[in-house]
Amino acid sequence: MNKWQKWLLTGLAGVLVWPLWANAETAPIVIKFSHVVAVDTPKGKAAEKFRELAASYTQNRVKVEVYPNSQLYKDKEELEALQMGAVQMLAPSLAKFGPLGAKEFEAFDLPYLFSDYEALHKVTQGPVGQALLRKLETKGIIGLSYWDNGFKQMSANKALREPADFQGLKLRIQSSKVLDAQMRAMGAMPQTMAFSEVYQALQTGVVDGTENPPSNFYTQKMHEVQKYLTLSNHGYLGYAVIVNKDFWMGLPGDVRQELEKAMVEATEYANLIAKQENDQAVEAVRASGRTEVLDLTPVQRRAWQQKMVAVHTQMEDRIGKELIAELHRVAGFDAGR
Ligand code: LMR
Repeated sequence: MNKWQKWLLTGLAGVLVWPLWANAETAPIVIKFSHVVAVDTPKGKAAEKFRELAASYTQNRVKVEVYPNSQLYKDKEELEALQMGAVQMLAPSLAKFGPLGAKEFEAFDLPYLFSDYEALHKVTQGPVGQALLRKLETKGIIGLSYWDNGFKQMSANKALREPADFQGLKLRIQSSKVLDAQMRAMGAMPQTMAFSEVYQALQTGVVDGTENPPSNFYTQKMHEVQKYLTLSNHGYLGYAVIVNKDFWMGLPGDVRQELEKAMVEATEYANLIAKQENDQAVEAVRASGRTEVLDLTPVQRRAWQQKMVAVHTQMEDRIGKELIAELHRVAGFDAGR
């Protein structure tokens, strides 16, 4: 090959390689964010908000791809996918961290622990909540934030007013052992099941009922397959937004900083809309005329509470006596409320 031929070849190779190089420079960093609920829920909307803010703050250097409704993975699979790096971000319910070996998060499921969002925020926005998130680091996960959903209501094809009404019912729960104990305390038979399977299980009678915040109940159309919804507010369901640690720490520092800012704002947004979304969902269930919405009398409420609160002591070995005591103190828990 003479000198001219060599120059020609080098030039040609440069022209061919250039688009690849240019693409590598400009290709956005992709964050796959998988979740199991509908878009039109507090979590679904907050994930969209984070997607928008992340693009805007990083000038499109980051592209968040949100996969709602268990499109990519069901509950247990998504945690495995995060650890393997197949997705980068999730916001699982706090009741689903047990299989990760972070069973302390099940403390959030303790019945009647939080009297309202204010009591909850004392934990999620205070040192106890932050210490819990830090525990995830040994699992290869970074906990970025807590996102609110809301207080759970109990549904069934039978009117649930007294603890005796629960006797022998098969009730779907998330994977938490606290929820298992809670349903047993009421005389029901808990059945752990992925969220994406609940509608069909209710429809076919595999289970008789379930518990969820109204936003989940309504957006999954559970009102089509449940005759009664008791406004019991007996427990809380919310989320921790988590990322794969290697991925997060491998991001350029300035990008990570912008994403952290986007997460702070998405969190404010999630926590701003959560109560309203749930209140509206109760009204939508009433308006559907498919499910009768029941209120408890103060005496009935006391009876539920007395049965369920026994779970707090039962779970001391699993969750830790000190943590439960600390949560009681911070949240201002009053067993006799
Ligand atoms: C459930 O499984 O009932 C919830 O955790 C779903 C969710 O993510 O809100």
